[in-house]
Amino acid sequence: MTGEQFNAAQRAQSIIEKTKSSRERYARAQRFLAGGVSSGLRRGARPYPLYFRSGKGSQVTDVDGNNYLDYGLAWGPLMLGHSPTQVTKAIKSQAEKGLTFGAQHDLEIEVSELMARIIPCADQVCFANSGTEIVQVALRLARAATGRQKYLKFEGHYHGWDDSVLVSIHPTREEIESSHGTPIPVGKGQRAHDGVLVAEWNNPASVQELFASRGDEISAVICEPMLCNSGCIPPEPGFLEFLRQITRQHQSLLIFDEVITGFRLHLAGAQGLYGVTPDLATYAKAIGSGVAVSALAGRAEFMSLIATGAVVHAGTLNGNPIALAAVKATLQALANKNSASYEELKNRSDRLRSGLVTLLHSKGHKVVSSGHGAVFQLTFMEKPARNYRETMEADKSMYSDFALALLDEGILVLPDGRWYVSFAHSDEDIRTTLLAVQKVVA
Ligand SMILES: Cc1ncc(COP(=O)(O)O)c(C=O)c1O
Repeated sequence: MTGEQFNAAQRAQSIIEKTKSSRERYARAQRFLAGGVSSGLRRGARPYPLYFRSGKGSQVTDVDGNNYLDYGLAWGPLMLGHSPTQVTKAIKSQAEKGLTFGAQHDLEIEVSELMARIIPCADQVCFANSGTEIVQVALRLARAATGRQKYLKFEGHYHGWDDSVLVSIHPTREEIESSHGTPIPVGKGQRAHDGVLVAEWNNPASVQELFASRGDEISAVICEPMLCNSGCIPPEPGFLEFLRQITRQHQSLLIFDEVITGFRLHLAGAQGLYGVTPDLATYAKAIGSGVAVSALAGRAEFMSLIATGAVVHAGTLNGNPIALAAVKATLQALANKNSASYEELKNRSDRLRSGLVTLLHSKGHKVVSSGHGAVFQLTFMEKPARNYRETMEADKSMYSDFALALLDEGILVLPDGRWYVSFAHSDEDIRTTLLAVQKVVA
């Protein structure tokens, strides 16, 4: 705890007093559950990870009965808010009919048809269970299609926790200096990976340089088409078009990792918003409203490698009926929202964003915001970042204190400054949030 800003020490004490049951559970969990949490990032929560008993719409309730307006949305999946009725109904109804068959069923046909209608690059799709897994399918397809072993990623972009992609995500300055330009693994035990080349986001020269020296080894360029995992940094005008052009020129594939941007920036994801169509695109999070499911969408010439069995794509629970019941209900609900509804969501989110910035500026804080519509970033720094390295200027401990104070006011946000807004958030929710922020900055 820094205790320096936004009365952080007092705020922490107040939270500790009202979340006693969470605290007890966290202590108990650590005895048999490694680290007391099921995904490492959750350990960073202050003052400690909370335990939740229910969620509905834009709100969650913890085990002590405290209610929070939720802008973390389970790290992104809850585009329709918590427990959307159409999705829970579809899951319940499917559960009565069969949890899984390990064989074919109608939902596979219906969902793939639905995705092909919505996603520009989707001639065909295939399913898996997490974003991490589906990125591996995409990279394998790219290697098979090109006969090349390497791929190019960008510093600060996250594509799951597999050894092959968990490099150069948020390196420290010391790591960058001592790495001499080689990919930087995030944790211990990762296999040394020589198949990755790392470029700088929004910097065409860094991409050109790698293609000039290693172009005939690069099977694909993968990116978060808006860099959500390091500051919600949009592509600069022309940058995605440049990636499209250079990958074509070198017969490499362009892969958009739409695990966050999918169905969130636009019904057709980042490719719909920016008008650049990749060869392959990965989806997870929002596609299932919170069930474990992911999908790859792509052009027929590459997906045909799966169709012929040349590329192995396997998995006991791939395309299971519970997951696809959730996907069908989610996509139908999202597809029924016309572009005006997405516009409305964006406007609501923009009102929240500008309200936050205005309130913080009014107290002299240097804060900036970037992103698009229903996902944006709030950062304590002077000017918006263009790439990961520029985000290193941010005052992260100040943001952490701000998030803690918000929690005490009943507003739940992620620790890294990213805010998610769902279709379940109302104008009244935004007003309530800004009133809470007013108290926090007072
Ligand atoms: C852009 C992106 N790709 C891939 C992943 C990995 O997805 P999962 O956590 O479902 O494995 C994430 C997760 O946050 C992500 O943000």
